[in-house]
Amino acid sequence: MRVVIIGGSGHVGTYLVPMLVERGDEVINVTRGERAPYLPHAAWKQVQSVKADRAAEDSAGTFGARIRDLKPDVVIDMICFEETSAHQLVEALRGQVQHFLHCGTIWIYGQSMQVPAREDQPRRPFGHYGTQKAAIEAYLLDQARRYGFPATMLHPGHIVGEGHVPLNPQGNFNPDVYEQIARGETLVLPNFGLETVHHVHAADVAQAFYKAMTYWNTSVGESFHTVSPAALTLRGYAEAVFGWFGHKPKLEFLGWEEWRKTVPEDDAQATWEHITRSPNASIAKAERLIHYQPRYSSLEAVYESVNWLIDHNVIKI
Ligand SMILES: NC(=O)c1ccc[n+]([C@@H]2O[C@H](COP(=O)([O-])OP(=O)(O)OC[C@H]3O[C@@H](n4cnc5c(N)ncnc54)[C@H](OP(=O)(O)O)[C@@H]3O)[C@@H](O)[C@H]2O)c1
Repeated sequence: MRVVIIGGSGHVGTYLVPMLVERGDEVINVTRGERAPYLPHAAWKQVQSVKADRAAEDSAGTFGARIRDLKPDVVIDMICFEETSAHQLVEALRGQVQHFLHCGTIWIYGQSMQVPAREDQPRRPFGHYGTQKAAIEAYLLDQARRYGFPATMLHPGHIVGEGHVPLNPQGNFNPDVYEQIARGETLVLPNFGLETVHHVHAADVAQAFYKAMTYWNTSVGESFHTVSPAALTLRGYAEAVFGWFGHKPKLEFLGWEEWRKTVPEDDAQATWEHITRSPNASIAKAERLIHYQPRYSSLEAVYESVNWLIDHNVIKI
């Protein structure tokens, strides 16, 4: 296959691109060329790099043609955030590709009605990001089912892996929270600590893309959650991390309005964004239709990230 991946040097591409090269695909990575993958791999020597700024070329109306002219069999779009961008690409690629894979998010749900949420649950997104991702998904599903455009949508949870800070037990990205726990200090959680976060290792997201390509006949025209087997409550997550550092959990709880004053404003905002959604998604459909078998539980994925951050002195213990 000649595979064009848009945004292939990020969290997911770091794992996905070597997998595709190893199975014999010809891979073309389209990025601005500003960053390297999180982990080195010899496979990158075989990857053709094309420099393009998607945002600028979307505005100029040239991005769709740019991708079509690369003559792909498969297009993997890791970085589509606006419905208009999806329109442009689909119009250019209609009848030109065997498979089109879009990276969405479990924030398409907003707040869930039933958990673990299934892919057939109503979407009630809020905020620009989730609303646009839900609109892109609806558009691609419609294009697939009404006009036969070969689209598959993969919806990751909070992506975790070596090289980046995972969403922490307070539901934000402040690495100091791990240091605080490592010192055995009391950690204060909002509310009862029962709101949820749903992580996934970037390697498992890559696996889902790979398997969606492999099981083309059951993935086209479908959406799949791409998360670990189970979400974590903030409380359960915090308790596990205390255990990693050899401590008994020391937790206290405060109602949201008081809790938010105990942390920097940016962290409170990030926590709010995560716990108001409290994602908790089912992988049953992905297991059944594309044989998705995540290698990492949420805690295993976070454990690997935290160890990497300790080794690289981002988390100082
Ligand atoms: N992070 C999460 O926890 C999370 C959770 C759910 C869903 N998602 C979804 O995951 C997708 C992102 O995947 P990822 O996390 O693997 O990517 P990522 O780590 O954010 O990396 C982004 C990639 O896109 C390239 N890029 C960024 N801006 C670009 C532009 N204007 N033009 C061309 N290339 C550009 C980057 O390379 P250059 O900088 O060199 O251009 C890089 O290769 C998004 O669709 C997001 O909604 C993420």
